[in-house]
Amino acid sequence: MLPSLLACDFARLEQEIRAVEAARVSALHLDIMDGHFVPNLSIGVPIVEAVRRVTTLPLDVHLMITEPGKYLEPFRRAGADTLTVHIEAAPDPRSLLEEIRDLGALAGLALNPPTPLSAIEPYLSSCDIVLAMSVMPGFGGQPFDESALAKLRSLAAHPQCHALLEIDGGVGLGTIGRCAQAGANLLVAGTAIFGTANYVATIDQLGTEARSTQGTYR
Ligand code: DX5
Ligand code: ZN
Repeated sequence: MLPSLLACDFARLEQEIRAVEAARVSALHLDIMDGHFVPNLSIGVPIVEAVRRVTTLPLDVHLMITEPGKYLEPFRRAGADTLTVHIEAAPDPRSLLEEIRDLGALAGLALNPPTPLSAIEPYLSSCDIVLAMSVMPGFGGQPFDESALAKLRSLAAHPQCHALLEIDGGVGLGTIGRCAQAGANLLVAGTAIFGTANYVATIDQLGTEARSTQGTYR
């Protein structure tokens, strides 16, 4: 389970992180938006660096930005453990994925709901993580787009895909079981966690729901 900090109370960032640390979470998901690749702005390098100072959890950094190559090194230096770029922002991402690995981070490649799997197929061997978006990126709290599930199933069975499979957007109690069942290893949830009063209880419930399937989620 990876809580997406986009939905947290940024005025209480450290307490919010402590509250999810008290549950079994495998990493924190940080959404970087530039107002160009997506119609919204969020956080940048200084906040990733601040988060790094208060937690030892791995930081899963999701770059929703038009020129990811410019910022790989700064985000890695700030403490990112994984860096995920979008195929829609980098049509030939091989060198970016290699650079991420050279920087010592896990290399992720994301695709939006309308983008076919064939767009990322040539790069699968360069990916440590493939992120199937189950919403159009830009905002938390949107409804789950089922098209991501078929992509996960295809990736899970794909001979060239040895990456961890991640899903992001609209993941909650009503959808998480199907995500795990379809093969997702990394389950990101924002409002489904931070929109509730007791994060530990919510994360436990989400975990129970995910484990009730045959999946291998984290
Ligand atoms: C969407 C972001 C997501 C978002 C998920 O642009 O990439 O990580 O925070 O939020 P929920 O879980 O509320 O859909
Ligand atoms: Zn995200």
